[in-house]
Amino acid sequence: MEKINWNESFAIGVDAVDEQHKYFVSLLNELRQQVNQRDDNPAELQRIIGEFKDYTVYHFNTEEQLMRDCEYPYLMEHQQEHSGFRQHVLALHARAERGEFPLLKVIATYMTNWLLEHIQVSDARIAEYVNRSE
Ligand SMILES: [Fe+2]
Ligand SMILES: [Fe+2]
Repeated sequence: MEKINWNESFAIGVDAVDEQHKYFVSLLNELRQQVNQRDDNPAELQRIIGEFKDYTVYHFNTEEQLMRDCEYPYLMEHQQEHSGFRQHVLALHARAERGEFPLLKVIATYMTNWLLEHIQVSDARIAEYVNRSE
Protein backbone atom coordinates (compact mmCIF):
# COMPACT_ATOMS: atom_id res chain seq x y z
CA MET A 1 0.00 0.00 0.00
CA GLU A 2 1.35 3.40 -0.95
CA LYS A 3 2.19 6.07 1.57
CA ILE A 4 -0.38 8.85 1.78
CA ASN A 5 1.22 12.24 1.53
CA TRP A 6 -0.50 15.09 3.28
CA ASN A 7 -1.56 17.76 0.83
CA GLU A 8 -3.53 20.98 0.98
CA SER A 9 -6.71 19.32 -0.28
CA PHE A 10 -6.91 17.65 3.16
CA ALA A 11 -6.69 20.94 5.06
CA ILE A 12 -10.05 22.30 6.22
CA GLY A 13 -8.67 25.59 7.54
CA VAL A 14 -9.13 24.99 11.27
CA ASP A 15 -5.60 24.57 12.61
CA ALA A 16 -6.39 22.40 15.63
CA VAL A 17 -8.41 20.00 13.48
CA ASP A 18 -5.86 19.94 10.66
CA GLU A 19 -3.10 19.02 13.11
CA GLN A 20 -5.17 16.09 14.39
CA HIS A 21 -5.96 14.97 10.84
CA LYS A 22 -2.23 14.99 10.04
CA TYR A 23 -1.64 12.64 12.94
CA PHE A 24 -4.45 10.41 11.66
CA VAL A 25 -2.76 10.22 8.27
CA SER A 26 0.51 9.23 9.94
CA LEU A 27 -1.30 6.43 11.82
CA LEU A 28 -2.90 5.28 8.57
CA ASN A 29 0.55 5.18 7.02
CA GLU A 30 1.86 3.06 9.90
CA LEU A 31 -1.00 0.64 9.38
CA ARG A 32 -0.51 0.56 5.61
CA GLN A 33 3.19 -0.05 6.15
CA GLN A 34 2.38 -3.04 8.37
CA VAL A 35 0.08 -4.44 5.69
CA ASN A 36 3.03 -4.29 3.29
CA GLN A 37 5.18 -6.47 5.56
CA ARG A 38 5.45 -10.05 4.52
CA ASP A 39 4.91 -11.37 8.04
CA ASP A 40 2.36 -10.19 10.55
CA ASN A 41 3.81 -8.48 13.58
CA PRO A 42 0.94 -8.91 16.06
CA ALA A 43 2.43 -6.74 18.81
CA GLU A 44 3.05 -3.87 16.43
CA LEU A 45 -0.38 -4.23 14.82
CA GLN A 46 -1.99 -4.20 18.25
CA ARG A 47 -0.07 -1.06 19.17
CA ILE A 48 -1.08 0.78 15.99
CA ILE A 49 -4.71 -0.32 16.13
CA GLY A 50 -4.89 0.57 19.83
CA GLU A 51 -3.53 4.02 19.12
CA PHE A 52 -5.90 4.39 16.18
CA LYS A 53 -8.85 3.47 18.39
CA ASP A 54 -7.86 5.92 21.15
CA TYR A 55 -7.24 8.68 18.64
CA THR A 56 -10.54 8.09 16.87
CA VAL A 57 -12.43 8.54 20.14
CA TYR A 58 -10.37 11.59 21.10
CA HIS A 59 -10.57 13.27 17.70
CA PHE A 60 -14.31 12.76 17.25
CA ASN A 61 -14.89 14.20 20.73
CA THR A 62 -12.78 17.24 19.84
CA GLU A 63 -14.72 17.86 16.65
CA GLU A 64 -18.12 17.31 18.23
CA GLN A 65 -17.28 19.81 20.97
CA LEU A 66 -16.19 22.37 18.37
CA MET A 67 -19.45 21.83 16.49
CA ARG A 68 -21.52 22.25 19.64
CA ASP A 69 -19.60 25.42 20.55
CA CYS A 70 -20.48 27.07 17.24
CA GLU A 71 -24.01 25.61 17.13
CA TYR A 72 -23.24 23.79 13.91
CA PRO A 73 -26.60 23.01 12.28
CA TYR A 74 -25.63 19.56 10.94
CA LEU A 75 -24.17 18.20 14.17
CA MET A 76 -26.54 15.22 14.28
CA GLU A 77 -25.64 13.95 10.80
CA HIS A 78 -21.95 14.43 11.48
CA GLN A 79 -22.18 12.58 14.78
CA GLN A 80 -23.89 9.68 13.03
CA GLU A 81 -21.03 9.43 10.55
CA HIS A 82 -18.56 9.42 13.43
CA SER A 83 -20.51 6.83 15.32
CA GLY A 84 -20.62 4.39 12.39
CA PHE A 85 -16.88 4.61 11.84
CA ARG A 86 -16.09 4.46 15.57
CA GLN A 87 -18.05 1.18 15.81
CA HIS A 88 -15.95 -0.31 13.00
CA VAL A 89 -12.75 0.80 14.72
CA LEU A 90 -13.86 -0.57 18.10
CA ALA A 91 -14.70 -3.93 16.50
CA LEU A 92 -11.34 -3.98 14.72
CA HIS A 93 -9.61 -3.22 18.02
CA ALA A 94 -11.49 -5.96 19.88
CA ARG A 95 -10.43 -8.52 17.26
CA ALA A 96 -6.85 -7.27 17.31
CA GLU A 97 -6.72 -7.67 21.08
CA ARG A 98 -7.64 -11.33 20.55
CA GLY A 99 -4.79 -11.62 18.06
CA GLU A 100 -7.12 -11.73 15.06
CA PHE A 101 -6.30 -9.63 12.03
CA PRO A 102 -8.61 -10.78 9.25
CA LEU A 103 -8.79 -8.95 5.92
CA LEU A 104 -6.28 -6.38 7.07
CA LYS A 105 -5.65 -4.92 3.63
CA VAL A 106 -9.36 -4.55 2.92
CA ILE A 107 -9.84 -2.90 6.31
CA ALA A 108 -6.87 -0.55 5.87
CA THR A 109 -8.27 0.47 2.47
CA TYR A 110 -11.71 1.08 3.94
CA MET A 111 -10.30 3.14 6.82
CA THR A 112 -8.17 5.23 4.49
CA ASN A 113 -11.02 5.91 2.08
CA TRP A 114 -13.51 6.67 4.82
CA LEU A 115 -11.23 9.07 6.66
CA LEU A 116 -9.98 10.98 3.65
CA GLU A 117 -13.45 11.37 2.22
CA HIS A 118 -14.90 12.33 5.60
CA ILE A 119 -12.20 14.98 6.04
CA GLN A 120 -12.66 16.44 2.58
CA VAL A 121 -16.45 16.45 2.59
CA SER A 122 -17.97 16.44 6.08
CA ASP A 123 -15.15 18.00 8.12
CA ALA A 124 -14.49 20.64 5.47
CA ARG A 125 -18.09 21.76 5.85
CA ILE A 126 -17.67 22.71 9.54
CA ALA A 127 -14.79 25.13 8.94
CA GLU A 128 -16.78 28.20 8.01
CA TYR A 129 -19.02 27.79 11.08
CA VAL A 130 -16.14 27.21 13.48
CA ASN A 131 -14.09 30.11 12.09
CA ARG A 132 -17.07 32.46 12.00
CA SER A 133 -17.81 31.92 15.69
CA GLU A 134 -14.25 32.60 16.83
FE1 LIG B 1 -12.06 14.84 11.48
FE1 LIG C 1 -15.62 14.54 11.49
